[in-house]
Amino acid sequence: MPTILAIESSCDDTSAAVMVDGEIRSNVVATQQVHEQYGGVVPELASRAHQQHLLPVVTAALHKAGVAKHDLDAVAFTQGPGLLGSLLVGGMFAKTLALALGKPLIAVNHMRAHILAHFIEDPRPEFPFLCLTVSGGHTQLVIVRSALDMEIIGQTIDDAAGEAFDKTAKQLGLPYPGGPHLDKLARQGNPTRFPFPVGAMPGYDFSFSGLKTAVMYFLKKEVAKNPDFVQENLPDLCASIQHTIIQTLLRQLRRAAHDHHLSHIALAGGVAANSGLRQALQDEAAAQNWQVFIPAFQYCTDNAGMIAMTAHFQYEANDFATQLVSSDPRLKL
Ligand code: KG4
Ligand code: ZN
Repeated sequence: MPTILAIESSCDDTSAAVMVDGEIRSNVVATQQVHEQYGGVVPELASRAHQQHLLPVVTAALHKAGVAKHDLDAVAFTQGPGLLGSLLVGGMFAKTLALALGKPLIAVNHMRAHILAHFIEDPRPEFPFLCLTVSGGHTQLVIVRSALDMEIIGQTIDDAAGEAFDKTAKQLGLPYPGGPHLDKLARQGNPTRFPFPVGAMPGYDFSFSGLKTAVMYFLKKEVAKNPDFVQENLPDLCASIQHTIIQTLLRQLRRAAHDHHLSHIALAGGVAANSGLRQALQDEAAAQNWQVFIPAFQYCTDNAGMIAMTAHFQYEANDFATQLVSSDPRLKL
């Protein structure tokens, strides 16, 4: 059974994890504060921060796991999708380490890893299951037939769900990333006070750009009448926006589960931390007789633990990469 070191550097979190026999021994994450002042991730700054963080993060992960470099059976890294510069830093590091140690290399797809994070801890979903992956960069509905056999049946045609949270939060003057702030304020608000349009797409696709525009015009109109409108109505605005995003997600999830006769429903990605979405999914589960699976928070947001889990499955399937493998910012599922 393998001992794997995994490295994740697809966006603005530098992470390393060690997995022994399918068990996580360490999962270290260094988040980058530098982007806050710009209200979004600045790719060039992200690459540089990865360069600074990577060696200390990998060293900490090995130390915490009590594993020496020579005991590793493979080195895994995120091949894509993500920011090219960020991916290159992690990819070059992993390749160099694998070459120096004479160990095999495993190239991991970040979106598969978000889904396979469900196998790090119990309760684990049963195949086949339906996974809704919602992050800052992606919104996908995926039928998962096995660890290595997945099919996207729906995805966003514009903004990702996390982006919808972050962009509307920005319009309300909340700090970046706005998702968690909006979530917190929404708890004290009325979700039906301001009705915004639910993005209704055919099939199982999603659209969130209409919401962003609707919020922008609505705020413009109200602020013209009352300059303090946002401050005076912040919890209700947050609750109403969050409610709309959740309804947009649930509408397609419900249809996909029904049409494909799937009752094991998994939630993945950073937006899975949203308290309103978690509650709505539990309520829906009770109504539809679903079994719902949501990983622990540290495995929902970007982390190398999920890369290690995916690498473990690939190791068992003899799916190794060569030194010629290249980072791919648009890697498909
Ligand atoms: O998966 P993730 O950590 O990184 C990406 O791969 O994008 O997801 C980050 C996204 C951000 O858009 C962030 O605002 C959102 O997840 N997020 C939330 C919450 N926590 C994180 N959105 C809404 N409510 C939350 N509690
Ligand atoms: Zn991610």
